[in-house]
Amino acid sequence: MEYRETIPLKDGRTCVLRNGTEADGKALLDIYLLTHEQTDFLLSYPDEAGMTVQQEAQFLKQKTESPDEIELLAEVDGSVVGAAGVGRVGGKVKVRHRADFGISVDERYWHLGIGRALTRACIALAKQAGYEQLELEAVADNERALALYRSEGFREYGRNPKGFRSRLTGWQELVLMRRELREPAAREPEAEEGSSALVQAAMAYVQDLFQNDFGGHDAAHTLRVYHNALAIAEAEPPCDREIVALGALLHDVDDHKLFATENNENARRFLTAQGVDGGRIEAVCRVINAVSFSQNRGRRPETPEGRIVQDADRLDALGAVGIARTFAYGGAHGRSLEASIQHFHEKLLLLRDELNTDTARRLAEKRHRFLNAFLAEYGEETRA
Ligand code: NI
Repeated sequence: MEYRETIPLKDGRTCVLRNGTEADGKALLDIYLLTHEQTDFLLSYPDEAGMTVQQEAQFLKQKTESPDEIELLAEVDGSVVGAAGVGRVGGKVKVRHRADFGISVDERYWHLGIGRALTRACIALAKQAGYEQLELEAVADNERALALYRSEGFREYGRNPKGFRSRLTGWQELVLMRRELREPAAREPEAEEGSSALVQAAMAYVQDLFQNDFGGHDAAHTLRVYHNALAIAEAEPPCDREIVALGALLHDVDDHKLFATENNENARRFLTAQGVDGGRIEAVCRVINAVSFSQNRGRRPETPEGRIVQDADRLDALGAVGIARTFAYGGAHGRSLEASIQHFHEKLLLLRDELNTDTARRLAEKRHRFLNAFLAEYGEETRA
């Protein structure tokens, strides 16, 4: 397949994404050797390359001539700094719908947007080639890569604890991910009394984005925050209810614990695609940025909408739901029960006194008491 696109990089330079051709054999071998020397997250070691410049050239020629495979190169200032490929899993009828995806970028060019651009181009090319599923494997410790893939629609479907054996670190767990390439079938929007088409689209968006989260940030969490926020808004002085609704629904879509996006990229992309005007996008982003606990210790959000959504999110960290989420998050991040208990003292028990609205304070009272009752019982049962 053939491809060519020029993209701006975060440092002001431009990058050309293009299919590699026969003439790029040496450049491809060089970037392969370099990237495989730089990181322990890729499949092979430089001494295992096993390809000559001529073989790489032949490989690129075949990919360019292929109707459904491609090797993309990323070029900055005339040199190749990264590569990514889409290849078929197999030719048999039962697996023809599946394609593999792999990527590597010279570490001196990380954090410029090249990885994301290569990923998006490969997704588009895989769709164009008629595949229905794009697959990848990534080392579980490669958190930045995993966050990038998640934010581009890949979903984890399994793990292989002994997937790689590194010469340096021993076993490396592999995360298996897949991305649907077919457009999702039109969803029956959850019938919400009085909610606009935009709010319903946001609901569908988060239900899809968080469908595979088992760490306490699933779509159900977002929907509870949305309902809590509307309930608080109802009881508090007038505010913009649609900004509250959108801020609540999108409050976790760029959470740094879950996604590697910057500057509310996921939220902005969604709202822009929905035709929301710039001023309202900024208003929603202000709400989202006011929600984070760690970034806002002791600071009261400036807008009423921000204060409401922050309270709504904090309510979901209290009570029985808060307890369930704390252990789910801890388990998903390899934390012991004791470490999760510690989190009650470091965060959860402090939340009641940091709420902004009277309505949320009232709702929090019972939930806060329940946390204390739980801790007392837990302490009694675990005392030696
Ligand atoms: Ni949240």
